[in-house]
Amino acid sequence: MTTPLSDSSAWQALGRHHEKVQPLHLRTLFAHDPGRVERMTLDAAGIHADLSKHRATEETMQLLVALARERGVEERRDAMFRGERVNTTEDRAALHVALRMPRDRSLLVEGRDVVRDVHEVLDRMSALAQAVRSGDRTGATGRPLRNLVNVGIGGSDLGPAMAARALRPYVDRGLTLRFVSNVDGAAVIEATRDLDPAETLVIVCSKTFTTLETMTNARTLRAWIVDALGEEAVSRHFVAVSTALDEVAAFGIEPDHAFGFWDWVGGRYSLDSAIGLSTMIAIGPEAFGELLAGFHAMDEHFCEAPLEANLPALSGLLAVWYRGVFGAQARAVLPYDESLARFPAYLQQLCMESLGKSVTLDGDPVGAETGAIVFGEPGTNGQHSFYQLLHQGTSIVPADLIVVARPAHALRHHHDLLVANAIAQAEALAFGQSADELRAEGVPEALVPHRVMPGNRPTTTLVVEQLTPFALGALVAHYEHDVLTQGVVLGVDPFDQWGVELGKRLAGAIGATFTGDGTTARRDASTEALVRRYLTLRDAR
Ligand code: F6P
Repeated sequence: MTTPLSDSSAWQALGRHHEKVQPLHLRTLFAHDPGRVERMTLDAAGIHADLSKHRATEETMQLLVALARERGVEERRDAMFRGERVNTTEDRAALHVALRMPRDRSLLVEGRDVVRDVHEVLDRMSALAQAVRSGDRTGATGRPLRNLVNVGIGGSDLGPAMAARALRPYVDRGLTLRFVSNVDGAAVIEATRDLDPAETLVIVCSKTFTTLETMTNARTLRAWIVDALGEEAVSRHFVAVSTALDEVAAFGIEPDHAFGFWDWVGGRYSLDSAIGLSTMIAIGPEAFGELLAGFHAMDEHFCEAPLEANLPALSGLLAVWYRGVFGAQARAVLPYDESLARFPAYLQQLCMESLGKSVTLDGDPVGAETGAIVFGEPGTNGQHSFYQLLHQGTSIVPADLIVVARPAHALRHHHDLLVANAIAQAEALAFGQSADELRAEGVPEALVPHRVMPGNRPTTTLVVEQLTPFALGALVAHYEHDVLTQGVVLGVDPFDQWGVELGKRLAGAIGATFTGDGTTARRDASTEALVRRYLTLRDAR
């Protein structure tokens, strides 16, 4: 039984406490609390986190932890790690944490050691990765496979695409990586236009192996390979990653070329499963092992650290504080690292597919605002676009700034400027600039109201030493557990995504109309008019 958040006494206490905190400025909080920074910074799995620039007092943090305890965050976390069916609406475990457990661990789920299963697949992935990287695994004409095309969408794309970008310095530069996700034909055409099919390995990633976009792109790529190299070439140029190995076989990919995973891995939690095959080939099995070790280190922290010093838990609780109590609609993720350019997109799926819910596990209204809109761009680019709203807009947008202390390149001067900007933005957002300070600088009176920087805009600054595979794993796991914490507090199922289904079904029906296979389904006037308009324009020439 999950009670609506609005009925929780800890939630109600936070609502009352908000009246005290709301008028407090971060300037005041810092001025009156010399121990604040020390108390509100913590280190977890190689990530240093500064939470001191949050609109929270010591009492706020205590109340948030009390909320987590009352809502059962620790119990739910432990149930998830034990492999219980915490994804209740799909009646499944959510056991992505098993994907990064070391080989010497075992986890029995319904009588089966899932860690052994995981490592069996990892070993097969490693063998393929090594063979492709060394050139031993060749295409049908005997040429080495130097191009990898990952076909997949959502969790079967965003994780590998994000990781390939983030870990560029670790990628074998002799390999060309492409990602095809959109059903838009331009995507597959652009991804392959300069590739030689004889040197291309297509990795079809789909948990279900039925996703329209992925199967359409996979069939187009199959035809591309067959046209160039003949039907027999398919087995040398295609591998598949899926939980639906029967569907893989039906597509024509042999079991030897299929890498399985399990229904207890959600799409958006699957980068560290066989879905990461392209990442493993690109960076090598050893570096992929380090990525898994980073995930696991954060898992251990999440399980072992008390909530008061638990980074993902505190981060998730602060997210709930802003969304549910302050009414903040968005959360910005601002990586000060070009390599993390796809990280906000990755987090969009992780956070918004997980928390974009309105009902509790029991189907009752949540009784509070859920999941924020997540967005972001690498700094400093974002500073020259949407940061204006972050600084002077009428609503607060809590932001996570991600800083990498040592870059993979030698342009130290660039990096000093980059990091200076990150730290300065957090400073400006928190403390702003008052009218009096502007006047003291001689700003004309008419401009003062326009130039006032209200400050009091909350940020978390996350600092990692280097963007290694280990650090990336820890970072991703941090957000996974942040999301879990939010999901448990809200009482929603953070592992399902029923909201994406209706659109898929309707697209199928409309698509059938386009191909002439549709029934005369009754539609609203607007939809019908758009269907007719498209058909008229499409067939005009
Ligand atoms: O439509 C949403 C979704 O189901 C995601 O949750 C998932 O990551 C994506 O589609 C791709 O699904 P699949 O891996 O089964 O192709």
